[in-house]
Amino acid sequence: PIIPVILSGGAGTRLWPLSRPEQPKQLLPLTAEQTMLQLTALRAAGERFAPPIVVANARHADQVEAQLATVATAAQALILEPAGRNTAPAIALAAIAAGGGADPVLVMPSDHVIADVEAFHAAIQAALPLVEQGWLVTFGIAPDAPETGYGWIKVGEPLAAGVHRVERFVEKPPRDRAEEMLAAGDHAWNGGIFLFRADMYLGALSVYAPAMLVATQRAMEKARREGIRVWPDAEEFAASPSDSIDYAVMEKAPRVAVVPVAMGWSDVGSWDALHAISECDAQGNVCRGDVIAIDAENCLIRSEAGKRVALVGVRDLIVVATGDDVLVLPRGRSQDVRKIIEAMQN
Ligand code: GDD
Ligand code: MG
Repeated sequence: PIIPVILSGGAGTRLWPLSRPEQPKQLLPLTAEQTMLQLTALRAAGERFAPPIVVANARHADQVEAQLATVATAAQALILEPAGRNTAPAIALAAIAAGGGADPVLVMPSDHVIADVEAFHAAIQAALPLVEQGWLVTFGIAPDAPETGYGWIKVGEPLAAGVHRVERFVEKPPRDRAEEMLAAGDHAWNGGIFLFRADMYLGALSVYAPAMLVATQRAMEKARREGIRVWPDAEEFAASPSDSIDYAVMEKAPRVAVVPVAMGWSDVGSWDALHAISECDAQGNVCRGDVIAIDAENCLIRSEAGKRVALVGVRDLIVVATGDDVLVLPRGRSQDVRKIIEAMQN
C-alpha cells in the first residue's frame, strides 16, 4: 500500500488572528466542519493506503492526536519534532519510520484544499509505475498568476500517460522569472505533494544532503516511543541542516517527474484565497459564526468565541474577530497580514 505522510509543522501566519502558534491553520476548520488536517487524512484513506505517518511539532501532540482519532484512519505513527527543521528533514524522519524500503510514500501538506479528490487519486494512479521505477514524482497545478511563493516546474517530455519529465524545478523564483515562466505557458506550479519510494528519497538525501540523512537517522535510532508517539532525539535532530525538500532535493535530483492535474487545489495561503474557494451566499458573502450582514457584498466575515459581528452597507471587506483580536482589511490586501505579524513582534 501507499504510506501517506502528513506534514503538520507550519505556522500559517497569514491567516492571523484565527491561525496562531498554539493553533495553526492546519488544526482549524477553515473550509468545512473538519479541520484541514482531518480533511488531509480523509483524502488518503481507503484500501490503497496504509494508515498515515504524521510529522508535527511536539507542542501540538495532543491536538493532532485528538483530531486524527476522530477520522476514519488512525495514524500509524505521530512523529513529534522538538523544533521544526523545515520539510526535508521532516520527510526524512517519516521515510525512516516507513521502513526506508521500496514502499511508496505520499507526502502531503496538512493545510491544503483539494476539491476533486477523484482527480487526485487518478493522478496518484498515473504516477505509480514511474514511482516504482525510482522516480520522484510531484503534482503540477496550472498556474494563473506569477506567484513567487511557489515552486515552478518546466514540464518536459512525456514519460508515460499523464506523466512528464521535470525539465527544471525552480523554487520560489523572483517576480520577473515567475512572469517569464507564466508567459511561456509550459510551466506548472509545484503543488507541494510528492510521491516516491522511501528508499529513493533517502538515497537522494545521501547524495545532496548527507548531513541531514545522518542526523535524521541518528535521531530516529535514539527516538523515544510511546504508543503511536515517536520523539526523535532532540540533540541529534538539531544537528540536521534546516532546508525544504524543494531546495534540498527537487531542484537537484535528476529523475523527477510531474503529473499535471486539475483537482481544485488551493494552499489557502491568505484570507483572499479562502474567500475565493468558499461558497458564497447570494450577496457574495462568506459568513461564519455569529454574523449579521445587512446590505453587505462580497465580504468574508468570520466570528469566533461567540462575538457578534454586524456590518451594514459595506463591500469587499475581510473581517475576522476572535476572542482577543479583530482584523479588518479590504479584499486584495490579505498578503499584508504578515506586516501585522511583524508589527506585533516589534
Ligand atoms: N513537520 C513539519 N516540520 N512540517 C513542516 C515543517 C517542519 O519543519 N515546515 C513546513 N511544514 C509543513 C507545513 O505545515 C506545510 O503543510 C508543508 O510542510 C509545506 O511547507 P510550507 O512552509 O507551507 O511550504 P511553502 O508553502 O513555502 O512551499 C511549498 O509548497 C508550495 C505549494 O503550497 C513548496 O513545496 C513549493 O514548491 C510549493 O509550490
Ligand atoms: Mg505552504
